Amino acid sequence: EKVILAYSGGLDTSVMVPWIGEKYNMDVVTFTVDLGQGEDIQAIKAKATKTGAVDAIAVDARNLFVDHFVFPAIMAGAIYEGKYPLATALGRPLIAKLMVEAAREHGAKAVAHGCTGKGNDQVRFDVTFQTLAPDLKIIAPVREWSMTRPAAIEYAAKHNIPVEAKPESPYSIDQNLFGRSCEAGVLEDPWDEPPEEAYAWTTNPAKAPNEPEYIEIEFNHGVPTALNGTPTDGVALIETLNRLGGKHGVGRIDHVENRLVGIKSRELYEAPGAVILHEAHRELETLCLSKQAARFKTGVSQEYADLIYNGLWFSAFHQDLFAFVASNQRFVSGVTRVKLFKGKATVVGRKSDMSLYSKKLATYDEGSDYDQSAAQGFIKIHGLSQQTQATRQLMKGGG
Ligand code: ARG
Ligand code: SIN
Repeated sequence: EKVILAYSGGLDTSVMVPWIGEKYNMDVVTFTVDLGQGEDIQAIKAKATKTGAVDAIAVDARNLFVDHFVFPAIMAGAIYEGKYPLATALGRPLIAKLMVEAAREHGAKAVAHGCTGKGNDQVRFDVTFQTLAPDLKIIAPVREWSMTRPAAIEYAAKHNIPVEAKPESPYSIDQNLFGRSCEAGVLEDPWDEPPEEAYAWTTNPAKAPNEPEYIEIEFNHGVPTALNGTPTDGVALIETLNRLGGKHGVGRIDHVENRLVGIKSRELYEAPGAVILHEAHRELETLCLSKQAARFKTGVSQEYADLIYNGLWFSAFHQDLFAFVASNQRFVSGVTRVKLFKGKATVVGRKSDMSLYSKKLATYDEGSDYDQSAAQGFIKIHGLSQQTQATRQLMKGGG
C-alpha cells in the first residue's frame, strides 16, 4: 500500500521515508510543492528517490498559491493578532489538498507529514485531510517517534540517506513566497533580541540604503495587478516586493503568538512583500470604503485571520466571509505610492477613480461645496440625547 508523504528534503522528512516503510510496511511516495520557497524542487525529488521513495512527485503550485490563497488574504486584510501575515498558515491547506489529489491518483491509502504535536501545522494538515478525504489514514511520525537529532542522524547514516554537509539550522524554518517563519533555538527566550543570523530575507534596517525608494502598486477590486505602472502577475509581483522590501529592511516581525494548541510561542517572521501589500491595500481602502464598510471590515479581517491560522480554510464559514470580502472590495481599485526606507514601508500617496474623498468638500480654501450653516442644526440633533441626560441625570448628582 502507498502513502503520500509531504517531503521537504530535510533530515526529518528524509528519515521518514525508510521509517514509515519499516513501521507501517508501506511504499512511500514523496510529495514536494513549490510555493516559492526558493529551493530546487527537482533536486529534492532526486534526493527522495535516493532515500528509498518508490515515487517522487514535485508540483509547482506558485500561481495557485498566490491567486487562490495569498490574494484573498490581502483582500480580507487577514493578519493574525495584528502582526503575522500568515504565510505558513496559508500554504498548509493547499499542500494538503494537492496531497489528497495525489493520493487519489496513485491509489494511496494514507498521507503523512513531518509536523510536531505541539504546533499549528499538524492541525492545518490533519483538518484538511479529514475534511477532504476522511477515509485516508494520517501518519505523523514526529508525533509518534521519540527521535532526538543525533538519533535521526544515526538513523540516516544507517539507511544511506545523504545528510547535508552544512550543519542543520538551529531554527525551525518554513518559507514560501509570502514569507519566512523562524522559531526555536535562542528565539525561545522572548526577552532576548533575535540575533542577526536568524534573518535571511531582510537587511538590518540600520544598514539599509540611506536613500528611500518609491514604488507604486495598483489594485483592481482589492487584488494587486501592477507595479510601477507595469501589469505584473502575482508571483512576480510578490517576488519583486520581497526583494525591494528586503533590501530596505522592511518586513521583520517579532511576535509572541497564541497557538491554537494553547501554547504561546515566540516567532520571527520576514515578509517584506506581505507587509508592503497589506499596508498599500489598507491605505487604498481609506479612499474607497465608506466609514461603515471599513469599520465592519475590521472585525471580518480578524475573523478571517483566525480562520486561516486555525486551519479552517475549507469551511462553509470561509465561503461566507469571502463572499462579504469580495463584495466589499468591488470599489477598491486604484494606486498607492509606497516609500521604502530603513525598515519601514510608508504609504505617502493614494488615488482612485472610485475614491470617496472629495477635495471640494474637505478644502478650507475658497470654493467648497460644503454648507457650513447646515452644521449647526446637525450638531443640535446629534448632541440632543447626551444633553438631555446631562440635565436629567448627571447634573442631579445621583447614580
Ligand atoms: N507559528 C507559525 C504558524 O503557525 C509558523 C509555523 C512555522 N512552521 C514551521 N514548521 N517552522 O503559522
Ligand atoms: C511544528 O510544530 O511542526 C511547527 C510549528 C507549528 O506548527 O506551529
